[in-house]
Amino acid sequence: MLTLICPGETASERYALALRAGLRNVPCKILTRLTRPLENRALLFAVPLDESGVNHEYYDLLAFLRAHPGSLTGCVGGVIVDGAGNLFTKAAARELVLAANLAGCAFPGRPLVEAIGSLANFTVQAKNAGCDLETAYHLAVRDLAGRVLEFSPPKAEKPKLLVLHASSHRTSNTLALWSGVRERLGDACAVTEIGLRNGTLEDCGGCPYTTCLHFGEKGGCFYGGVMVEDVYPAIREADAVIFLCPNYNDAVSANLTAAINRLTALYRTTSFSDKALFGIVVSGYSGGDIVARQLVSALCMNKGFYLPPRFCLMETANDAGAAMKLPGIENRLDAFAKNMLDRLMQ
Ligand SMILES: Cc1cc2nc3c(=O)[nH]c(=O)nc-3n(C[C@H](O)[C@H](O)[C@H](O)COP(=O)(O)O)c2cc1C
Repeated sequence: MLTLICPGETASERYALALRAGLRNVPCKILTRLTRPLENRALLFAVPLDESGVNHEYYDLLAFLRAHPGSLTGCVGGVIVDGAGNLFTKAAARELVLAANLAGCAFPGRPLVEAIGSLANFTVQAKNAGCDLETAYHLAVRDLAGRVLEFSPPKAEKPKLLVLHASSHRTSNTLALWSGVRERLGDACAVTEIGLRNGTLEDCGGCPYTTCLHFGEKGGCFYGGVMVEDVYPAIREADAVIFLCPNYNDAVSANLTAAINRLTALYRTTSFSDKALFGIVVSGYSGGDIVARQLVSALCMNKGFYLPPRFCLMETANDAGAAMKLPGIENRLDAFAKNMLDRLMQ
């Protein structure tokens, strides 16, 4: 049984039809708002947006999730956003996924069906399925509902964890928090750490699809180097990847962004759907949620890693050494490391 959460009225025929057609024969309980916790459910959030991109009932839902941290414990979710225009849909979706995830909801990889105003983002899917854009939208809703209902991430006896960072060991708050987590993981996981400091990798050159596929099929990428020699093999092996992200200008830093871009060739031939994504984000002053949302959209929505509940630890600390002196940090590190083990281990 799916719980369909549809905040807000809409005049959109297209949205109503997509839900009817996509969820035909799927038993659903429909809610228009959340007023109390929902535990252990398969959830589909369906959010209509008008041209302004503002849906007040959706913001009420966001407020409930942010104010009630454990309210979706044990839930698995997917998201549909139907926009009247071609903007705002992705931003709304990733904001919702982060809020629901921090409230305890897991998400499979590619958890978003996004219908922009023109539906042009369904062009490739429609071509592949030999159908029109609107039918491709309906098929995507059906596919997402099935994946949410069936989601059951693998567990391992000794999970393999890949740690990607681009920081200096001596001064980094982000690395100091990771050391605290690593200590708590003990020898329960097999940990591989790869540092991607300046000069170690080139960004994606945006090769044509066929060139990218050609190199991807040979297990590589045109640009070679540390990504192909170290990161690709480690990701193939990994049960989980954790990104250590200092906030650089309200974004994931350039080296880590380059690494994410360079995953494209591997992604052409390897599914990441059974690999968990975790993150540690440290901002000097503010904006950790923006960086976490970037991880959600780049790695879960686009590249297909799954999101375990509470995938990201976000802290605010600027001076070297400040993160480990934050009030309550030891308890938050305990909880973050325990959550990782609970999610990954048999
Ligand atoms: C290039 C650069 C850009 C930064 N931009 C921001 C920012 O936009 N917002 C912010 O809160 N902190 C920003 N910071 C501060 C870091 O987020 C902060 O130093 C934090 O401790 C994480 O970095 P660390 O792991 O290297 O210590 C920036 C730092 C650098 C070096």
